[in-house]
This record gives sequence, C-alpha cells and structure tokens, in this order.
Amino acid sequence: MDEVTFRSPKKHGRIAVFLSGRGSNFMAIREAIQRGDINADVGLVFSNKEDAPGLLKAREWGLETSFLNPKLFATREDYDQAIVGEIGKRDIDLVCLAGYMKVLTPQFCDAFKHRIVNIHPALLPSFPGLHVQQKAIDWGVRYSGCTVHFVAAEVDMGPIILQGIVPVLQDDTEETLAARILVEEHKIYPESVRLYFDGRIEVRGRRVFIVP
Ligand code: GRF
Repeated sequence: MDEVTFRSPKKHGRIAVFLSGRGSNFMAIREAIQRGDINADVGLVFSNKEDAPGLLKAREWGLETSFLNPKLFATREDYDQAIVGEIGKRDIDLVCLAGYMKVLTPQFCDAFKHRIVNIHPALLPSFPGLHVQQKAIDWGVRYSGCTVHFVAAEVDMGPIILQGIVPVLQDDTEETLAARILVEEHKIYPESVRLYFDGRIEVRGRRVFIVP
C-alpha cells in the first residue's frame, strides 16, 4: 500500500468557501456547522462575482466576505496571488470550492495542497468539466451522482473523498437530474468537511482512506 502522504488535522478549523453562484452547498455546510456537526467556522466567503447570490447571503448573515474583480488583474496568476493574500489575512485551514466557476492556477493548487476541496456533480473520473448532468443523460448512464475531491492542478482529478449516487431516469432533463444530484451534494459535502476536521482523512497515493 502507498505511504500516507497526508492526514487531515483534528482541530477547530477555519474554512473559506469560494463560490460564483447561488451557494446552496455553502448553505448546507453552514447549516451543518450551526448544528454542531462540523468542528469549524466559516472564516471567509470569497467570490469572483460581485452579485453572486451566495455572496450576498453570506453578507446578510454577517460573515466575512471578499470579492475581487478578475478584470482588474493582468493575469490569472496575479488574481490567484491576490486571493492567497485574502486567505492569508484570515488564517484559513481549508478552502471549499462550492460552485466556484474559475479554474485555480497550478501555483494556487500547489501552495494549498490537501487544503482545497471541491464538489463536482458527477461520478468522477466520469464527466469532468461543465454541463455534466446533460452529458450523463446523453451518454445513457444508469447512475450518476456527485464527488467531493481534493483539488489538484489537473481539473477535477484530485483524490476522491466521498461520492453520492443517484439513478438517472429515462425521462430526466438536465434540471431534474441536477436537482436529484444536489440533494446528495448537500449530504456529502458537509460530511467530507466534518471528516476533515475530525482528523479522519488520510491520503495514500491517489486514494483517500476514512480512518477511525
Ligand atoms: C453544484 O452542482 C456543484 O456540484 C457544482 O456547482 C454547483 C454549485 O451549486 N460545482 P451551489 O452554488 O452550491 O448551489
């Protein structure tokens, strides 16, 4: 068996949620925190979209928020470097990408290795990329679902933490399948973050083990 390359910390953590849209996964994580299920606080909600509903909601709730306009930066590297500054100021342990529609630079991914997680609405490694619910329907798969994974420089390819499965029905549309998958997303994302700060996630090679 591969050697342990990472073990998540058992501590009270501070997370940053990155989002570009409605933020339902952010809300599911926050609810789990409020229930006391996750040993962490939301230390920052960051967005690349000024009017992202999830960002506005975070502000309404009095959470720490930050928006940086990508258009004001010459390169992606400059933009991500500025984000690193935002995270640094808030002493963040884990970045949770939740519908963040911008690809992080390899520099960012490497600097925060095993400290960035993402949720993807398909069973990776099948259907990476965008519009994956429609792709699953078009391919004719019988099951799809969602994946929480560590973020590595290669998009949608980091070690898998948890997956949730749903059937794909004959009369599904992109919307009906997305809605069925979203229910599972709201379970496995908070659960993954819970396991992370309970110190129960171990990475060996490209496999993740949930340890006691
Ligand atoms: C989710 O389907 C997630 O899997 C994908 O983007 C969507 C974000 O939804 N990465 P929300 O903003 O969390 O509601």
